[in-house]
Amino acid sequence: MTLHAIAARPAAVVLVTAFAIFAGTGALTVFVAQGPDAAEAELAPETSGAAADGGALLDPAAQPIAFSHAHHVTEIGIDCQFCHAYARRGPVAGIPSVQRCAGCHRVVLSEQPEILKVLEYWEDEEPIPWVRVHDLPDHVRFTHKAHLRAGVACGTCHGDVAQMEAAVQVESLSMGWCVSCHEDRGATRDCLACHY
Ligand code: HEC
Ligand code: HEC
Ligand code: HEC
Ligand code: HEC
Ligand code: HEC
Repeated sequence: MTLHAIAARPAAVVLVTAFAIFAGTGALTVFVAQGPDAAEAELAPETSGAAADGGALLDPAAQPIAFSHAHHVTEIGIDCQFCHAYARRGPVAGIPSVQRCAGCHRVVLSEQPEILKVLEYWEDEEPIPWVRVHDLPDHVRFTHKAHLRAGVACGTCHGDVAQMEAAVQVESLSMGWCVSCHEDRGATRDCLACHY
């Protein structure tokens, strides 16, 4: 996220976001995944390359909008891949663009304060600055596609997101975690499969 984009944020959001970045582990980055129009803009979030050793410590209140997975997945019944549409096709799962939210929220609950924030980003054609939770180091190669194709469920690696408010990291994402599942499932243990 650029300084310009930060400057364009309402002050309260800047404070919350800045807190999330500079407090805690210093390992958090801000998503710049969504753009105003192209679906492609939902693709890869920038990564800092810093290890996400503190994902589980992220305070959900650090997110710019109080988005609830539990409401959207469990109560409304929206599929994970409606919002994280790239998981099947490539390395990243992606974070939904503000257009995808506005598609419903122009009409649903459009008077609620948290929804008004969504609509404000949408009208300004600004991406919502979600704080990144999972973040493997740069030297690690990971792809969602191979795992989905092999039938590994989202919840095996991300826990019961359907019961969460903001997403939190529940697994260590350590090398031992990756390798022991690869051992169990007969997947590759070649160093270069997982490292650049
Ligand atoms: C398919 C339609 C749909 C989409 C897409 C959608 N929402 Fe919602 N959202 C709803 C409905 C319906 C509710 C009311 C949930 C309830 O109260 O049970 C809701 C509620 C909310 C609320 C109020 C708090 C809560 O959870 O009840 C927020 C904030 C919110 N949505 C944010 C978002 C954001 C951000 C996105 C995009 C990432 C998004 N929504 C995408 C339908 C949608
Ligand atoms: C084999 C374990 C595994 C499975 C299965 C898995 N993920 Fe992930 N996911 C990860 C890891 C590891 C990362 C961190 C990647 C990084 O930092 O480069 C991640 C990152 C993400 C992110 C952050 C944005 C991104 O794309 O990097 C989202 C969103 C996500 N996963 C959603 C999902 C959804 C939805 C599913 C099921 C359709 C799923 N994941 C299945 C391990 C998994
Ligand atoms: C209505 C859209 C929507 C649906 C449906 C949805 N998500 Fe998300 N997801 C988001 C948004 C917005 C974020 C960013 C805020 C956050 O981290 O909670 C997110 C974040 C995540 C992350 C953390 C990404 C990171 O920063 O590392 C994971 C993992 C994830 N979702 C998994 C899932 C899984 C698994 C499901 C299905 C059980 C699911 N999501 C369903 C919108 C959605
Ligand atoms: C829950 C089990 C599980 C976990 C955890 C897991 N993997 Fe995998 N992984 C698999 C399976 C199963 C495959 C598919 C093997 C196949 O298609 O033959 C796979 C495939 C892959 C591939 C593609 C290999 C190829 O041959 O192209 C990469 C890269 C990979 N995993 C990296 C990782 C990394 C990095 C982590 C940890 C961050 C991880 N995996 C965690 C089960 C897992
Ligand atoms: C299935 C995926 C996978 C395989 C196979 C794998 N690694 Fe890793 N490796 C990882 C992940 C994920 C990390 C990052 C762990 C973290 O950040 O805590 C890592 C970290 C590392 C590190 C850095 C350790 C550190 O302290 O930061 C080294 C060195 C390394 N791996 C070497 C290897 C070598 C050598 C092999 C082959 C014998 C190998 N890896 C095989 C996933 C894998």
